[in-house]
Amino acid sequence: FGDRLLAGRRVLVSAGPTYEDIDPVRFIGNRSSGRMGFAVAAAAHEAGADVTLVAGPVSLPTPVGVRRIDVRSAREMHEAVLANAATTDIYVGAAAVGDYRPEAPASDKLKKHDGQPLHLELTENPDIIGALAVLPSHPFLVGFAAETQSIADYAKDKLRRKGLDMIAANDVSAGRGFEVAENALHIYWADGDAVLPNMPKTELARQLVAHIADRYRTKRT
Ligand code: C5P
Repeated sequence: FGDRLLAGRRVLVSAGPTYEDIDPVRFIGNRSSGRMGFAVAAAAHEAGADVTLVAGPVSLPTPVGVRRIDVRSAREMHEAVLANAATTDIYVGAAAVGDYRPEAPASDKLKKHDGQPLHLELTENPDIIGALAVLPSHPFLVGFAAETQSIADYAKDKLRRKGLDMIAANDVSAGRGFEVAENALHIYWADGDAVLPNMPKTELARQLVAHIADRYRTKRT
């Protein structure tokens, strides 16, 4: 991997879950470990890119040579990504952004009420990659689609609907994708696709980065 496929390119990667606070001690999160996104950031750095990583709450070391911005909620991630958009050539949205957040987090710890159900009102979070897609001049956009069923259909639909340049679909049904060191991806772009079979996420990220570099170059020429 000595060829510096992304030399001089500025790559922004989002990774990990988001935590949406319910009260001072509880949150709504998800099972994303951040490993795939961190591996993509490391691989992009290896490929010669200038890499910024916007990381949700994960316990992973920062890849060597990568600039890291830590965030907690989807709204913080949205703000950090948008603040860096103008200086980004390629955005890889590998974060598992929470779709919803509690409308108003309680300022004190919620208490139980004699067996009564608790109702949480949830509000939709901003679509981060979608917000980039509508900017007049936006980075090359790579999304992820973690699905448990009809993976190819959902992924291709998401590619078109969100206006992305590439989407990496992964199967997160029982025991796959999340919280594990290996993964497989099926990547799609407007007029092609490629299967990246099951392998360590570090190697998978290198192959994904090579495809991104290739499509990015094709789009610009
Ligand atoms: O629709 P879905 O959440 O499956 O789309 C996945 C892609 O969209 C991922 O790249 C994810 O990072 C991105 N996304 C986002 N903001 C959201 C939800 C998803 O950028 N609020």
